[in-house]
Amino acid sequence: MSDDVAGTAGYAENAAQMIEQSERMSFADLHSDVASLLPEAPALILDVGAGSGRDAAALAEMGHSVVAVEPVDELRNFCSTRHRSSRIEWVDDSLPDLNVVRSMNLAFDVAMLTAVWMHLDTSERVHAMRQLSSLLLCGGHVLMTIRHGPVPAGRRMFEVADEDTVQLAADCGLRCVYIDTTGSIQESNRNQGVTWARLAFRRN
Ligand SMILES: C[S@@+](CC[C@H](N)C(=O)[O-])C[C@H]1O[C@@H](n2cnc3c(N)ncnc32)[C@H](O)[C@@H]1O
Repeated sequence: MSDDVAGTAGYAENAAQMIEQSERMSFADLHSDVASLLPEAPALILDVGAGSGRDAAALAEMGHSVVAVEPVDELRNFCSTRHRSSRIEWVDDSLPDLNVVRSMNLAFDVAMLTAVWMHLDTSERVHAMRQLSSLLLCGGHVLMTIRHGPVPAGRRMFEVADEDTVQLAADCGLRCVYIDTTGSIQESNRNQGVTWARLAFRRN
């Protein structure tokens, strides 16, 4: 599916490198700032743009059920083999529509979008935020990180102002409950001025 999915440019070609980098990081380190927003297990969690499956695997290990969405075949095939778990359902689907996920008729406690949002353009983000909000239970959370700084060669990426995302979320019934910015944990990216915004939204 990945050929015609907005935002996936460069991922199939560099899947092995991305998997290796991604699996070197730990869920606990990456998401410690919003750990308190994760519900007690078992909850139902949507991981969109699941990449190598690192986060889906960690969440399943905690006892959560995870729907892991990854449109790039090379990544999804790796994830579903390496992180095999009865608690993870791997889905070939994509933002902004999330058609397959919507057809599952599920209501999620949490939707995670780690390092995905900046791959969508303005109109895709409007549509995607509406879909995400509609997939959440009341009181559920969207947890996202957004990359700022130079765009890696071959990737489709946009500079997305945090305040625009906060406003868009509010327009979709999602209240911002956490916002922060940190330097990249990868030294080469940090040296190039890459920073990451962390945002968390609660559905009213
Ligand atoms: C930087 S990687 C992050 C992967 C993983 N979330 C992590 O933190 O390691 C971005 C991921 O978003 C996925 N992606 C890009 N565009 C997407 C879209 N339109 N819908 C869903 N996923 C998308 C890519 O295939 C890739 O797996």
